[in-house]
Amino acid sequence: MNVHAWGVKDDDRGPPFNELLGVAQRGLTLKPKRLPSWLFYDERGSALFEQICQQPEYYLTRCEIALMAEHVESIAAALGNEVRLVEYGSGNARKTGMLLQHLHDPVAYVPVEISSGPLRQSVARLAMEFPQLQLQPLCADFSKPLRLPIASRAPRRTVLYFPGSTIGNFENRDAIEMLRKMRNEMGDAGGILIGVDLKKDPGVIEAAYNDHAGVTAQFTLNMLARLNREIGSDFELSAFSHRARYNPMAGRVETHLVSRRRQQVKVGRAKVGFGEGETIHVEYSCKYSLADFAALAAKAGLAVVRVWTDAQQMFSVQYLVRTSLAAR
Ligand code: AVI
Repeated sequence: MNVHAWGVKDDDRGPPFNELLGVAQRGLTLKPKRLPSWLFYDERGSALFEQICQQPEYYLTRCEIALMAEHVESIAAALGNEVRLVEYGSGNARKTGMLLQHLHDPVAYVPVEISSGPLRQSVARLAMEFPQLQLQPLCADFSKPLRLPIASRAPRRTVLYFPGSTIGNFENRDAIEMLRKMRNEMGDAGGILIGVDLKKDPGVIEAAYNDHAGVTAQFTLNMLARLNREIGSDFELSAFSHRARYNPMAGRVETHLVSRRRQQVKVGRAKVGFGEGETIHVEYSCKYSLADFAALAAKAGLAVVRVWTDAQQMFSVQYLVRTSLAAR
Protein backbone atom coordinates (compact mmCIF):
# COMPACT_ATOMS: atom_id res chain seq x y z
CA MET A 1 0.00 0.00 0.00
CA ASN A 2 1.58 3.25 -1.13
CA VAL A 3 0.37 5.24 1.87
CA HIS A 4 2.23 7.51 4.24
CA ALA A 5 -0.14 8.05 7.16
CA TRP A 6 1.72 11.30 7.74
CA GLY A 7 -0.02 13.54 10.23
CA VAL A 8 -2.92 11.17 10.93
CA LYS A 9 -3.43 11.00 14.68
CA ASP A 10 -4.58 7.77 16.35
CA ASP A 11 -7.46 9.38 18.16
CA ASP A 12 -10.09 11.90 17.23
CA ARG A 13 -10.76 13.92 20.34
CA GLY A 14 -11.61 17.24 18.74
CA PRO A 15 -10.77 20.60 20.31
CA PRO A 16 -9.87 20.60 24.02
CA PHE A 17 -12.45 21.49 26.69
CA ASN A 18 -11.01 24.95 27.44
CA GLU A 19 -10.95 25.99 23.79
CA LEU A 20 -14.55 24.92 23.29
CA LEU A 21 -15.70 26.62 26.49
CA GLY A 22 -13.89 29.85 25.50
CA VAL A 23 -15.43 29.83 22.01
CA ALA A 24 -18.94 29.25 23.41
CA GLN A 25 -18.66 31.87 26.15
CA ARG A 26 -17.20 34.51 23.84
CA GLY A 27 -19.80 33.89 21.11
CA LEU A 28 -22.70 34.00 23.55
CA THR A 29 -21.65 37.34 25.03
CA LEU A 30 -21.60 39.00 21.58
CA LYS A 31 -24.55 41.11 20.57
CA PRO A 32 -26.17 39.60 18.56
CA LYS A 33 -25.08 36.16 19.82
CA ARG A 34 -23.04 34.10 17.43
CA LEU A 35 -21.35 30.67 17.36
CA PRO A 36 -18.94 29.47 14.62
CA SER A 37 -20.22 26.92 12.10
CA TRP A 38 -17.27 24.53 12.62
CA LEU A 39 -18.99 23.60 15.89
CA PHE A 40 -21.53 21.62 13.79
CA TYR A 41 -19.02 18.96 12.85
CA ASP A 42 -18.55 16.54 15.71
CA GLU A 43 -19.14 12.86 14.89
CA ARG A 44 -22.92 13.18 15.11
CA GLY A 45 -22.95 16.48 13.17
CA SER A 46 -20.81 14.99 10.39
CA ALA A 47 -23.20 12.01 10.14
CA LEU A 48 -26.17 14.40 10.01
CA PHE A 49 -24.46 16.40 7.26
CA GLU A 50 -24.08 13.19 5.23
CA GLN A 51 -27.85 12.69 5.66
CA ILE A 52 -28.56 16.29 4.59
CA CYS A 53 -26.71 15.58 1.34
CA GLN A 54 -29.25 12.82 0.61
CA GLN A 55 -32.36 14.92 1.25
CA PRO A 56 -34.40 15.61 -1.90
CA GLU A 57 -34.42 19.38 -1.22
CA TYR A 58 -30.61 19.62 -0.82
CA TYR A 59 -29.77 19.97 -4.51
CA LEU A 60 -26.12 20.97 -4.01
CA THR A 61 -24.55 17.51 -3.67
CA ARG A 62 -26.69 15.95 -6.39
CA CYS A 63 -25.97 18.74 -8.86
CA GLU A 64 -22.24 18.74 -8.14
CA ILE A 65 -21.95 14.96 -8.56
CA ALA A 66 -23.92 15.14 -11.82
CA LEU A 67 -21.65 17.93 -13.10
CA MET A 68 -18.52 16.01 -12.20
CA ALA A 69 -19.86 12.86 -13.87
CA GLU A 70 -20.82 14.69 -17.04
CA HIS A 71 -17.65 16.75 -17.41
CA VAL A 72 -14.97 14.68 -15.71
CA GLU A 73 -13.00 14.22 -18.92
CA SER A 74 -12.82 17.91 -19.77
CA ILE A 75 -12.08 18.70 -16.11
CA ALA A 76 -9.20 16.21 -16.10
CA ALA A 77 -7.92 17.69 -19.38
CA ALA A 78 -8.02 21.23 -17.92
CA LEU A 79 -6.00 20.09 -14.89
CA GLY A 80 -3.39 18.43 -17.15
CA ASN A 81 -0.82 15.67 -16.66
CA GLU A 82 1.13 14.80 -13.52
CA VAL A 83 -1.02 16.67 -11.08
CA ARG A 84 -0.78 16.53 -7.32
CA LEU A 85 -4.40 16.76 -6.14
CA VAL A 86 -4.95 18.26 -2.67
CA GLU A 87 -8.51 18.09 -1.36
CA TYR A 88 -9.57 20.54 1.36
CA GLY A 89 -12.02 19.04 3.90
CA SER A 90 -12.02 15.67 2.14
CA GLY A 91 -14.37 13.95 4.66
CA ASN A 92 -15.09 10.48 3.31
CA ALA A 93 -13.74 11.55 -0.15
CA ARG A 94 -16.63 9.74 -1.90
CA LYS A 95 -16.76 12.24 -4.77
CA THR A 96 -13.04 12.13 -5.47
CA GLY A 97 -12.65 8.62 -6.90
CA MET A 98 -14.24 9.62 -10.20
CA LEU A 99 -11.84 12.54 -10.64
CA LEU A 100 -8.78 10.47 -9.67
CA GLN A 101 -9.80 7.80 -12.17
CA HIS A 102 -9.73 10.31 -15.04
CA LEU A 103 -6.60 12.31 -14.13
CA HIS A 104 -3.68 11.67 -16.49
CA ASP A 105 -0.75 10.14 -14.61
CA PRO A 106 -1.49 11.85 -11.23
CA VAL A 107 1.51 12.18 -8.92
CA ALA A 108 -0.17 12.13 -5.50
CA TYR A 109 -3.46 12.65 -3.70
CA VAL A 110 -3.38 14.64 -0.45
CA PRO A 111 -6.72 14.54 1.42
CA VAL A 112 -6.77 17.25 4.12
CA GLU A 113 -9.30 16.51 6.83
CA ILE A 114 -9.54 17.48 10.50
CA SER A 115 -11.35 14.28 11.59
CA SER A 116 -8.90 11.40 11.64
CA GLY A 117 -11.59 8.64 11.49
CA PRO A 118 -13.04 9.52 8.06
CA LEU A 119 -9.51 10.36 6.83
CA ARG A 120 -8.18 6.89 7.71
CA GLN A 121 -11.22 5.15 6.23
CA SER A 122 -11.11 7.08 2.97
CA VAL A 123 -7.38 6.44 2.56
CA ALA A 124 -7.81 2.71 3.19
CA ARG A 125 -10.54 2.58 0.53
CA LEU A 126 -8.64 4.67 -2.04
CA ALA A 127 -5.45 2.63 -1.52
CA MET A 128 -7.35 -0.46 -2.69
CA GLU A 129 -8.87 1.40 -5.62
CA PHE A 130 -5.67 3.21 -6.71
CA PRO A 131 -2.72 1.00 -5.71
CA GLN A 132 -0.30 2.97 -7.95
CA LEU A 133 -1.16 6.39 -6.58
CA GLN A 134 0.79 7.97 -3.74
CA LEU A 135 -1.65 8.86 -0.96
CA GLN A 136 -0.46 11.45 1.54
CA PRO A 137 -3.25 12.11 4.08
CA LEU A 138 -2.92 15.23 6.17
CA CYS A 139 -4.92 15.52 9.38
CA ALA A 140 -5.31 19.28 9.65
CA ASP A 141 -7.69 22.23 9.61
CA PHE A 142 -7.63 23.38 5.98
CA SER A 143 -8.56 26.94 6.95
CA LYS A 144 -5.15 27.32 8.68
CA PRO A 145 -1.84 27.56 6.75
CA LEU A 146 -0.79 24.04 5.66
CA ARG A 147 2.60 22.43 5.15
CA LEU A 148 1.91 20.02 2.34
CA PRO A 149 3.91 16.77 2.33
CA ILE A 150 6.51 16.39 -0.43
CA ALA A 151 5.55 13.86 -3.09
CA SER A 152 8.17 11.30 -4.14
CA ARG A 153 7.78 12.39 -7.80
CA ALA A 154 7.78 16.12 -8.64
CA PRO A 155 4.31 17.21 -9.85
CA ARG A 156 3.85 19.50 -12.82
CA ARG A 157 1.20 21.36 -10.87
CA THR A 158 -0.64 21.28 -7.55
CA VAL A 159 -4.40 21.50 -7.85
CA LEU A 160 -6.39 22.32 -4.73
CA TYR A 161 -9.81 20.68 -4.87
CA PHE A 162 -12.45 22.43 -2.73
CA PRO A 163 -15.86 20.93 -3.56
CA GLY A 164 -19.31 21.25 -1.96
CA SER A 165 -19.55 25.06 -2.04
CA THR A 166 -17.88 25.11 1.36
CA ILE A 167 -16.38 28.45 0.27
CA GLY A 168 -19.96 29.77 0.73
CA ASN A 169 -19.69 29.19 4.49
CA PHE A 170 -17.08 31.97 4.69
CA GLU A 171 -18.14 35.61 4.84
CA ASN A 172 -16.92 37.69 1.91
CA ARG A 173 -13.74 38.98 3.56
CA ASP A 174 -12.86 35.54 4.94
CA ALA A 175 -13.58 33.89 1.58
CA ILE A 176 -11.05 36.23 -0.08
CA GLU A 177 -8.55 35.43 2.69
CA MET A 178 -9.15 31.70 2.18
CA LEU A 179 -8.67 31.97 -1.61
CA ARG A 180 -5.46 33.99 -1.04
CA LYS A 181 -4.17 31.29 1.28
CA MET A 182 -4.97 28.67 -1.37
CA ARG A 183 -3.22 30.77 -4.03
CA ASN A 184 -0.05 30.65 -1.89
CA GLU A 185 -0.32 26.93 -1.21
CA MET A 186 -0.79 25.92 -4.85
CA GLY A 187 2.30 27.82 -6.09
CA ASP A 188 2.87 29.64 -9.40
CA ALA A 189 1.76 26.89 -11.78
CA GLY A 190 -1.08 25.62 -9.58
CA GLY A 191 -4.84 25.74 -9.87
CA ILE A 192 -8.00 25.54 -7.77
CA LEU A 193 -10.95 23.31 -8.68
CA ILE A 194 -13.86 24.59 -6.65
CA GLY A 195 -17.58 23.85 -6.28
CA VAL A 196 -19.66 27.04 -6.11
CA ASP A 197 -23.41 27.18 -5.48
CA LEU A 198 -25.26 29.68 -7.65
CA LYS A 199 -28.02 32.23 -7.04
CA LYS A 200 -31.44 30.94 -8.07
CA ASP A 201 -35.12 30.98 -7.06
CA PRO A 202 -35.04 31.85 -3.31
CA GLY A 203 -37.76 29.23 -2.67
CA VAL A 204 -35.49 26.46 -3.99
CA ILE A 205 -32.57 27.70 -1.86
CA GLU A 206 -34.65 28.05 1.31
CA ALA A 207 -36.14 24.57 0.88
CA ALA A 208 -32.62 23.10 0.74
CA TYR A 209 -31.96 24.42 4.25
CA ASN A 210 -35.41 23.52 5.63
CA ASP A 211 -35.85 19.93 4.48
CA HIS A 212 -39.17 18.28 5.11
CA ALA A 213 -37.68 15.43 7.16
CA GLY A 214 -36.14 17.96 9.58
CA VAL A 215 -32.57 16.68 9.20
CA THR A 216 -31.12 20.21 8.82
CA ALA A 217 -32.99 21.28 11.96
CA GLN A 218 -31.42 18.36 13.85
CA PHE A 219 -28.01 19.30 12.42
CA THR A 220 -28.37 22.89 13.67
CA LEU A 221 -29.64 21.86 17.12
CA ASN A 222 -26.83 19.32 17.41
CA MET A 223 -24.51 22.29 17.97
CA LEU A 224 -26.17 22.86 21.36
CA ALA A 225 -26.26 19.11 22.09
CA ARG A 226 -22.52 19.02 21.35
CA LEU A 227 -21.85 21.84 23.80
CA ASN A 228 -23.92 20.03 26.44
CA ARG A 229 -21.93 16.83 25.84
CA GLU A 230 -18.51 18.39 25.67
CA ILE A 231 -18.52 21.38 28.05
CA GLY A 232 -21.48 20.43 30.27
CA SER A 233 -23.71 23.39 29.34
CA ASP A 234 -27.41 22.87 30.01
CA PHE A 235 -29.16 24.00 26.80
CA GLU A 236 -32.66 22.55 26.71
CA LEU A 237 -32.93 21.54 23.06
CA SER A 238 -36.72 21.75 22.95
CA ALA A 239 -36.46 25.42 24.00
CA PHE A 240 -34.64 26.34 20.74
CA SER A 241 -35.63 26.06 17.11
CA HIS A 242 -33.79 26.08 13.76
CA ARG A 243 -34.37 29.00 11.37
CA ALA A 244 -32.78 29.28 7.91
CA ARG A 245 -33.81 32.18 5.66
CA TYR A 246 -32.46 33.37 2.35
CA ASN A 247 -31.45 37.03 2.39
CA PRO A 248 -31.63 38.03 -1.30
CA MET A 249 -29.84 41.37 -0.77
CA ALA A 250 -26.83 39.67 0.81
CA GLY A 251 -27.17 36.57 -1.43
CA ARG A 252 -26.92 34.11 1.42
CA VAL A 253 -28.84 31.73 3.65
CA GLU A 254 -28.63 32.94 7.24
CA THR A 255 -29.11 30.20 9.80
CA HIS A 256 -30.00 30.87 13.42
CA LEU A 257 -31.00 29.04 16.57
CA VAL A 258 -34.02 30.83 18.04
CA SER A 259 -34.89 30.81 21.74
CA ARG A 260 -38.55 29.79 22.06
CA ARG A 261 -38.89 31.51 25.43
CA ARG A 262 -37.12 33.63 28.01
CA GLN A 263 -34.52 31.45 29.66
CA GLN A 264 -31.12 31.17 31.28
CA VAL A 265 -28.47 28.67 30.25
CA LYS A 266 -25.40 27.63 32.20
CA VAL A 267 -22.22 27.68 30.10
CA GLY A 268 -19.28 26.84 32.37
CA ARG A 269 -19.58 29.22 35.29
CA ALA A 270 -21.40 31.83 33.22
CA LYS A 271 -25.15 32.18 33.04
CA VAL A 272 -26.35 33.27 29.60
CA GLY A 273 -29.75 34.97 29.40
CA PHE A 274 -32.03 34.66 26.34
CA GLY A 275 -35.14 36.69 25.57
CA GLU A 276 -38.09 35.07 23.79
CA GLY A 277 -37.25 35.03 20.05
CA GLU A 278 -33.60 35.94 20.64
CA THR A 279 -31.24 34.27 18.15
CA ILE A 280 -27.76 32.79 17.92
CA HIS A 281 -26.34 33.17 14.43
CA VAL A 282 -24.65 29.89 13.45
CA GLU A 283 -24.02 29.84 9.68
CA TYR A 284 -23.95 31.72 6.39
CA SER A 285 -24.26 29.79 3.12
CA CYS A 286 -23.41 32.33 0.41
CA LYS A 287 -24.74 31.96 -3.13
CA TYR A 288 -23.06 33.61 -6.11
CA SER A 289 -23.69 34.62 -9.68
CA LEU A 290 -20.83 33.65 -12.02
CA ALA A 291 -19.84 37.33 -12.14
CA ASP A 292 -19.94 37.63 -8.30
CA PHE A 293 -17.59 34.71 -7.91
CA ALA A 294 -15.18 35.91 -10.62
CA ALA A 295 -14.99 39.28 -8.82
CA LEU A 296 -14.35 37.56 -5.47
CA ALA A 297 -11.59 35.42 -7.03
CA ALA A 298 -10.02 38.51 -8.66
CA LYS A 299 -9.69 40.12 -5.21
CA ALA A 300 -7.56 37.13 -4.23
CA GLY A 301 -5.38 37.44 -7.37
CA LEU A 302 -7.14 34.57 -9.13
CA ALA A 303 -8.82 34.27 -12.53
CA VAL A 304 -11.61 31.87 -13.45
CA VAL A 305 -10.43 30.05 -16.58
CA ARG A 306 -13.13 27.36 -16.89
CA VAL A 307 -16.70 26.99 -15.61
CA TRP A 308 -18.77 23.83 -15.83
CA THR A 309 -22.44 24.31 -15.06
CA ASP A 310 -25.78 22.63 -15.73
CA ALA A 311 -28.51 23.87 -18.06
CA GLN A 312 -30.51 25.44 -15.18
CA GLN A 313 -27.35 27.02 -13.66
CA MET A 314 -28.06 25.40 -10.30
CA PHE A 315 -24.42 24.80 -9.37
CA SER A 316 -20.98 25.29 -10.85
CA VAL A 317 -17.55 23.73 -10.79
CA GLN A 318 -14.86 26.28 -11.60
CA TYR A 319 -11.14 26.19 -12.35
CA LEU A 320 -9.03 29.12 -11.14
CA VAL A 321 -5.39 30.00 -11.71
CA ARG A 322 -3.24 32.94 -10.68
CA THR A 323 -4.26 36.09 -12.57
CA SER A 324 -0.69 36.51 -13.89
CA LEU A 325 -0.81 32.99 -15.42
CA ALA A 326 -4.23 33.52 -17.03
CA ALA A 327 -3.02 36.71 -18.74
CA ARG A 328 -0.28 34.82 -20.64
C1 AVI B 1 -20.84 22.37 4.05
N1 AVI B 1 -21.72 23.45 3.54
C2 AVI B 1 -21.39 23.77 2.17
C3 AVI B 1 -23.16 23.22 3.77
C4 AVI B 1 -23.99 24.39 3.18
O1 AVI B 1 -24.79 24.14 2.29
O2 AVI B 1 -23.78 25.53 3.59
C5 AVI B 1 -23.49 23.04 5.24
C6 AVI B 1 -24.96 22.94 5.51
N2 AVI B 1 -25.60 23.63 6.41
C7 AVI B 1 -26.90 23.30 6.38
N3 AVI B 1 -27.06 22.44 5.40
C8 AVI B 1 -25.87 22.17 4.84
